Amino acid sequence: MAFFQKTNDTAADHPMIDLRDVNKYYKTAVGDFHALNSVDLQIGAGEFVSIIGKSGSGKTTLLNMITGIDIPSNGEVWVNNTAVHKLSENKMARWRGKNLGVVFQFFQLLPMISVVENIMLPMDFCRTYPMRERHERAMQLLELVELADHAHKLPTALSGGQQQRVAIARALANDPPVIIADEPTGNLDSKTAESVFTLFNDLVAKGKTIIIVTHDSALAKRAHRTALIADGEIVNEYVAKAMPTLSQDQMLWATRNANLQHYEAGALIFSEGSNADTFHIVSKGTVDVVLPRPDQSDVIALQLGPGKFFGEIAFFHGRKRRASVRASENTSVETLVLGYDQLNELLNQSEATREALHQMADKHEDENQARRGGSQ
Ligand SMILES: Nc1ncnc2c1ncn2[C@@H]1O[C@H](COP(=O)(O)OP(=O)(O)OP(=O)(O)O)[C@@H](O)[C@H]1O
Ligand SMILES: [Mg+2]
Repeated sequence: MAFFQKTNDTAADHPMIDLRDVNKYYKTAVGDFHALNSVDLQIGAGEFVSIIGKSGSGKTTLLNMITGIDIPSNGEVWVNNTAVHKLSENKMARWRGKNLGVVFQFFQLLPMISVVENIMLPMDFCRTYPMRERHERAMQLLELVELADHAHKLPTALSGGQQQRVAIARALANDPPVIIADEPTGNLDSKTAESVFTLFNDLVAKGKTIIIVTHDSALAKRAHRTALIADGEIVNEYVAKAMPTLSQDQMLWATRNANLQHYEAGALIFSEGSNADTFHIVSKGTVDVVLPRPDQSDVIALQLGPGKFFGEIAFFHGRKRRASVRASENTSVETLVLGYDQLNELLNQSEATREALHQMADKHEDENQARRGGSQ
């Protein structure tokens, strides 16, 4: 038996996880509470994504949409090419058992049965492996989390970190392509939390897609990508990357106000000397910053990828473009665009970000001068 099936992501119409304009309202005594606001989130097969955000921001609500534990008020949730938002309740549990491994903050192992029996349960429930193979597979999973010696103990005889590793082994029982974990290290000391993360990294290397919610921003950084959620909205990750000193509310403001612009490969975005009134953050593809030299030849001064920005020099220096920028030859490009008035409004609220952008503008201006061969 293949221990882990390779996830097939070639024929997929949707990314492994695809949330489209998802809204969730909770009914409360004082009216509807808008817990998720137009959430769009795409996660590819094999990605490791952490979700961070303040308490009450909507992290668990978001995970519940993916696991089908709860359904969106409107919008679409696709996981492994299944429309989770449309699954009937009687299909849901078995679908979840085969497609998702869910890990909780408080482990949620059954206390009356042994560790190895806990791991066999999902296989029994979904009948994914022949009965005679289930025990052996559970033992292999326990070896993977380095707990084979504890197989026949009751869960309560194990430490918190060990119980969490059992819970991860249980999540892997049916070899699901996706692992979802809500604060899996919230109850563990930092060293144990570290080892749980190492285990997640190993699983990602084996092709699993993993989403974890964590309060620990240092651990969150060990994922490939971090999605920040504030007041039920996803902060654009490239806004967060480009201007990390903004507060979460300011990042959200920028996310809401930025316009997404598309450019074909090789398209000119703006040319040197033209009037400047926009600041751009690259969100897809790469752009070339092009400097004309005195002998009329062009030189590509630098390439900027997702999370990098341009248009800051003219904001601080004279409102004329100081270089030309175009989409690189082989990639279509998307940028998030803020008008200079909007950028100014934002920077008025964050002196640290103004300072950081100003320094970048000065540095880039100096570098451009040098690349031009000191002309101008
Ligand atoms: N069943 C419910 N009914 C009404 N409101 C709810 C319900 N579940 C959650 N909420 C509210 O929705 C918001 C988001 O809750 P959620 O549990 O998703 O937050 P969270 O980011 O996971 O927080 P934490 O970090 O504390 O776990 C909160 O304001 C919460 O009070
Ligand atoms: Mg939560």
